[in-house]
Amino acid sequence: MTTATAHRLLNVDFCGVKFKNPFILASAPPTTTGEMIMRAFDAGWGGAIIKTLVPEGEPVLNVAPRLASLPYGKNRMAVLQNIELTTDRGVRVWLKEIGQMKKRYPDHVVIGSIMASGTMKKEWQELTKRVQGAGADMIECNLGCPHGMPERGMGSVCSQDPEITKHITQWVKDVATIPVMIKLTPNITDIKVTAKAAQAGGADALATVNTVAGLIGVDLDKIEPLPSVSGHSTYGGLSGPGIKPIALRAVCEIFKATNCAISGIGGVGSWQDAAEFILVGATTVQVCTAVMHWGYRIINDLCEGLVNYMEGHKFNSVAEMVGLAAQKITMHESLDRSYRLVSSINKDLCIGCGLCYVSCQDAAYQAIKWDSKKREPTVEEEKCVGCGLCSHVCPIDYCVTMKRSNVALKKQH
Ligand SMILES: Cc1cc2nc3c(=O)[nH]c(=O)nc-3n(C[C@H](O)[C@H](O)[C@H](O)COP(=O)(O)O)c2cc1C
Repeated sequence: MTTATAHRLLNVDFCGVKFKNPFILASAPPTTTGEMIMRAFDAGWGGAIIKTLVPEGEPVLNVAPRLASLPYGKNRMAVLQNIELTTDRGVRVWLKEIGQMKKRYPDHVVIGSIMASGTMKKEWQELTKRVQGAGADMIECNLGCPHGMPERGMGSVCSQDPEITKHITQWVKDVATIPVMIKLTPNITDIKVTAKAAQAGGADALATVNTVAGLIGVDLDKIEPLPSVSGHSTYGGLSGPGIKPIALRAVCEIFKATNCAISGIGGVGSWQDAAEFILVGATTVQVCTAVMHWGYRIINDLCEGLVNYMEGHKFNSVAEMVGLAAQKITMHESLDRSYRLVSSINKDLCIGCGLCYVSCQDAAYQAIKWDSKKREPTVEEEKCVGCGLCSHVCPIDYCVTMKRSNVALKKQH
């Protein structure tokens, strides 16, 4: 298949809006200006969501620093925390830039992100009309930012309340002539409730997650919470690889609970991450932290990798993939209990570190024996419950695997 034909596999229809590929820059630092977004379009991104606009007259006074990160292994930003506010560039500047972007890049999708409080009907409707009047293809209502804005009745406090979520959606839908996407916070007990409220308000699409509320750490020398703004801090929003499992669950839950199209966000940095989001229900996938880390150029790997995966699995479109794994999420009580799994250790690969033995001794069912002279673990199948902990702690790929067994489990009381 030629590259052009292969890349046609990535075309998506999202609420009637056509995307070259499902990859969208999330509303965030990579979409700080129209000039930056146009560079991202040149690099290959299918769409971009402008950094969130607030009504004229709402002050946006950022602090420095506004980021802190948690390294893990070789990843310097396994989790990123930000306390950044919405755009500090004026509404008029943005409206002009939306127009310029659409004129120069008519085949790329520009989405206007807007925010106001749960009492500001006039402001929500005015922002909607102005952004669509400037030429935006879609509106994203940011009801998810967990820091700074909630103190002013905006952001995550709106999508923590189903009534507010519903009436903001209705206000925007009442004047919108383009599709409306509601961006929901994950910082809530049951995201299905607010997703259904947005659907009841007429939302065409849902986007989640905005950042996960957190406190990334404390400077132990200075005894200051991070990021330290001259000694003090505030709770912030977490993003990046560390939040992906939270985001995948949120996307899967709202996919199963509503009929809205879904844009998945949270920790996407590779084509594999993107494929997972699509398989649990997302039609488009948004990216922020990975672009902050590696730049717009990651779009090449995202597109190439996803195309290869689709060809390998004989998918003819992204739409064919949407939600295939979500259908396999069931109630715990419905899971198959008809077979037994036990641990299996490949002695040729084993390096004798003993981690499987220690973890089974101290956190499982004492089903691994340890020969301290030979530094050799042996599984006692009749004691193994198949939890799999040993396979997760083993540092060697494929050394500890799980296999089906007919050996009966000896009950221990
Ligand atoms: C520094 C920073 C600023 C952000 N600003 C916005 C914003 O203005 N509007 C918005 O809807 N989301 C904002 N976000 C949230 C992202 O759009 C996205 O939902 C979140 O970072 C999770 O995706 P990721 O793990 O790919 O970063 C911001 C995120 C970061 C890290």
